[in-house]
Amino acid sequence: MLATSSSSSSSTAISLHPLANYNASATPSLNPSSLSFSSSYSYLSPLSFRLHSSKTHLRITPKKGLRVSCSTNEPLKVMISGAPASGKGTQCELIVQKFGLVHISTGDLLRAEVSSGTEIGNKAKEFMNSGRLVPDEIVTAMVTVRLSRQDAKEKGWLLDGYPRSFAQAQSLEELNIRPDIYIVLDVPDEILIDRCVGRRLDPVTGKIYHLKNFPPESEEIKARLVTRADDTEEKVKSRLEIYKQNAAAISSTYSSITNKIDGNRPKEIIFKDIDFLLSQLLKDKTAKSVKPVLQTENCLDQASSNEEKWRGIPTRLNNIPHSREIRNYFYDDVLQATQRAVNDGRTRLKVEINIPELNPEMDVYRIGTLMELVRVIALSFADDGKRVKVCVQGSMGEGALAGMPLQLAGTRKILEFMDWGNYGAMGTFIKIGSIGAKEVDEEDDMFILVAPQNAVGNCIIDDLRAMTDAAGKRPVILINPRLKDLPGSSGIMQTMGRDKRLEYAASFESCYFFRLLYYAGTQYPIMGAIRMTYPYDYELYKRVDEPSGKEKYVSLSTFKERPTIDEINDAFLGKPRNKDKKASGIWGFLSGVF
Ligand code: AP5
Repeated sequence: MLATSSSSSSSTAISLHPLANYNASATPSLNPSSLSFSSSYSYLSPLSFRLHSSKTHLRITPKKGLRVSCSTNEPLKVMISGAPASGKGTQCELIVQKFGLVHISTGDLLRAEVSSGTEIGNKAKEFMNSGRLVPDEIVTAMVTVRLSRQDAKEKGWLLDGYPRSFAQAQSLEELNIRPDIYIVLDVPDEILIDRCVGRRLDPVTGKIYHLKNFPPESEEIKARLVTRADDTEEKVKSRLEIYKQNAAAISSTYSSITNKIDGNRPKEIIFKDIDFLLSQLLKDKTAKSVKPVLQTENCLDQASSNEEKWRGIPTRLNNIPHSREIRNYFYDDVLQATQRAVNDGRTRLKVEINIPELNPEMDVYRIGTLMELVRVIALSFADDGKRVKVCVQGSMGEGALAGMPLQLAGTRKILEFMDWGNYGAMGTFIKIGSIGAKEVDEEDDMFILVAPQNAVGNCIIDDLRAMTDAAGKRPVILINPRLKDLPGSSGIMQTMGRDKRLEYAASFESCYFFRLLYYAGTQYPIMGAIRMTYPYDYELYKRVDEPSGKEKYVSLSTFKERPTIDEINDAFLGKPRNKDKKASGIWGFLSGVF
């Protein structure tokens, strides 16, 4: 029998699409009144469902101009995906241990139904045993019911094995159920088959073993292990095929929050990556949970205008100055990419971020945004116990050519006077320096170089090279470098050693790239964007105006290398890759600033 969910004073009744499919005339065999779930699900009525608007706890002070606190005590919401046997269940055990999330595995829920012999279980069995997907309406109903339970709302959830089709992903979108992060475990096919065939489950503890990789701890456990009916080589191949057919369509729904993780490493190492990502998310959520805001509108408006709305590439990037949410999105995005690269042992890195406020060729350029970005990165590494030197180049050249690029004038002073927090980081874990070999001290763990660039007639590369040589294996991160040659005062390019300089400039690996796309020669309207965060591919987005007047970014394609203008043209025109290209493109990068 179906149990009834307890109601709440802050709940809102909404129509639930997946359950609407249980309409008796449409799908008689799935009429809810005749279905039996095992007792762990709660349910209100076939067509209505209670979702609790518990996201935002507000202390609203209705007068304008007063400060209020918006507290968003929202727990983590995580989706984990990957091919059969990519290690989702194994990682979920570790995630639950550390973060206490409610683990919702559709595979486990379905297996429980099968072993309880419920009607759902009997229906699902034939699909599961043949390695096919169980019909969407059955699985979606199970998941949404489970997600609506109080424990999932309070502790947060970890959804494993759902969504598995585009329709399933859309069902969640329609219900406004969206994760904070979409983790994809990436494992080569040949490894997957071996993992499935060697997998054994302990029916007593639920623990997952592998005969070779993770053998049971004792003979007693070994004796009671069971093999899953769908773990034969033949069925695994068919499950893998189905996974591949659906993967791209699902990931397009979550492209802006996708984190692909190499799942072909020891499970503890994989977990380290996941742990880092989730801890970072949690930190961000906590930081946002009590946020002083100047109240010009009431707090509810504030909550509804936050990043939930733009999810992915922030919209309204032409509105200057950028909102705090937009800046925070980019600071966060850059920080995560940089942290991942440094944790992977990368030492020569560059960040290139070109939003209007960080484009020195636009009137709206804001040096404060660059400084804040640098501060976020430096403080975060300092937080991890690293001694960070933040470096701004000094004056170069002699005589009439002495000076520094306009973009950097006064930056060092700004850095020194900035608020670096009350924890005494400045002067201990964070130091300010210049660019050059003598700036490298033994105690420095890493270096952040603020927009290093050539000045008219003067080249920064030699100082930069001397500095990186002295830094050895310690990370050096260039933020918005401009290392192209600039002409001398006579208009002539310096040619001596030019090739070597450019080769050196190119030796820094991109760990973050963001650039807006416009029609060639214009800076309005924004047509799309390219984004890359280490270690993932370049993502190409198209900006779309919706009939409601809102805008959104739609993912068009991904590229292993930074896409060329021709590749961008083709993607915008919907042409398949490698087709004959027109000689010239309609799109152009914003400008040649880097
Ligand atoms: P489900 O149970 O979700 O199966 P799956 O996605 O195929 O994933 P697995 O459980 O096989 O693998 P896993 O990634 O959890 O790997 P594990 O950690 O166990 O679904 C089963 C069926 O239910 C589906 O085929 C479908 O019919 C149905 N279904 C489920 N959800 C559905 C949905 N949304 N819609 C429709 N139908 C749905 O690890 C595998 C093995 O590798 C273990 O032996 C483990 O010890 C070992 N291992 C793990 N990590 C490592 C490592 N790092 N190194 C070495 N070995 C490792």
